[in-house]
Amino acid sequence: MTTVLIDDITELVTNCAELGDGSSLGLLHDAALVVEGERVVWVGESTSAPAADVRVSASGGAVVPGFVDSHAHLVFAGDRAAEFAARMEGRPYSAGGVKTTVAATRAAPDEVLAGNVVRLVAEMRKQGTTTVEIKSGYGLTVADEARSLAIAGQFTDETTFLGAHVVPAEYADDPAAYVDLVTGPMLAAARPHARWIDVFCERGAFDADQARAVLRAGQAAGLQARVHANQLGEGPGIEIACEFDAAAADHCTHATAADIDNLANAGVVATLLPGVEFATRSPYPDARAMLAAGVTVALATDCNPGSCYTSSMPLCVALAVREMRMSPAEALWSATAGGAAALRRADVGRLAVGARADFAVLDAPSYVHLAYRPGVPLVTATYVGGRLTT
Ligand code: NIG
Ligand code: FE
Repeated sequence: MTTVLIDDITELVTNCAELGDGSSLGLLHDAALVVEGERVVWVGESTSAPAADVRVSASGGAVVPGFVDSHAHLVFAGDRAAEFAARMEGRPYSAGGVKTTVAATRAAPDEVLAGNVVRLVAEMRKQGTTTVEIKSGYGLTVADEARSLAIAGQFTDETTFLGAHVVPAEYADDPAAYVDLVTGPMLAAARPHARWIDVFCERGAFDADQARAVLRAGQAAGLQARVHANQLGEGPGIEIACEFDAAAADHCTHATAADIDNLANAGVVATLLPGVEFATRSPYPDARAMLAAGVTVALATDCNPGSCYTSSMPLCVALAVREMRMSPAEALWSATAGGAAALRRADVGRLAVGARADFAVLDAPSYVHLAYRPGVPLVTATYVGGRLTT
């Protein structure tokens, strides 16, 4: 198999403390890496790099593990720019807007939905994302949830069944019947296409008992849990995520001190989505308290047409640093290794021998520039499984 040497790396982030300077980012300077097929086969200082069949220069830029965006809703039609504009003039965000997208999604042919995902995943690749989780949740019928997941599965293995996103209009008078549908026929149709089960546990969406019923049924069908928790207010979402051994509790915007202790003790990742707070003009989650308590923090985009229509992990890194007071090192780790932890993946989010060759090359001498130069397209190349994608 052909070996490729990526050389002229001024700063290489490995996320392996034992490989580099001892920090959790495992930084190496004047470094190189060698890729064979889909995997990294060598990492180290450039001067001791082995010979390879092909040599590619990183032009003195930094190389970072590809971003692992562990929370995105990419299967939908239409947009909600008017809702965003109204919000910026003072209207609050609520879970109700989801229904607008549900109507547009149900009406859209498969090609339109898939075309939208192609466009969004291409945007993500250009910005250094190499792994993306994709949820259903804008179909909310058996057929529309199943086709949403089948489309998502064309782009990623990290597919999440979110039939319990909101109760659709036709079940407004009988939410219990909708939960029965989600946990019965809809789950059965979704199961072959999904790895994860998710529920939006929030006032206006699903309450504690309904969320438990959804997660219980999903786990019984062999799916692993993740939860939309404590986004719009305090509530039982985080507690339930811990109770069900979820991989992650996502949002955590309104986490109490007890919730934070619970996350730390249960080893549930807190996936913070600062693009949502930015785009809904809401207070940010207390990342510092979570880090101080020893919680594993991930960063993700939540890319969706309502609460946050960005596909940019570099933007989320910049927001985490500026608005949540994470250090640039903490933010980069959370956007890469943290995302991998939130998806229970050991093969991505780090650059060491045996890991997938998923990485981004930056037109900057250090990863710090991702936060220091917000809004600047610094990613010059993204490699997924050793292949240049953009
Ligand atoms: O994660 N919170 C629930 N779902 C999405 C928003 C969906 C929408 O507004 O369309 C979120 O923020
Ligand atoms: Fe979400």
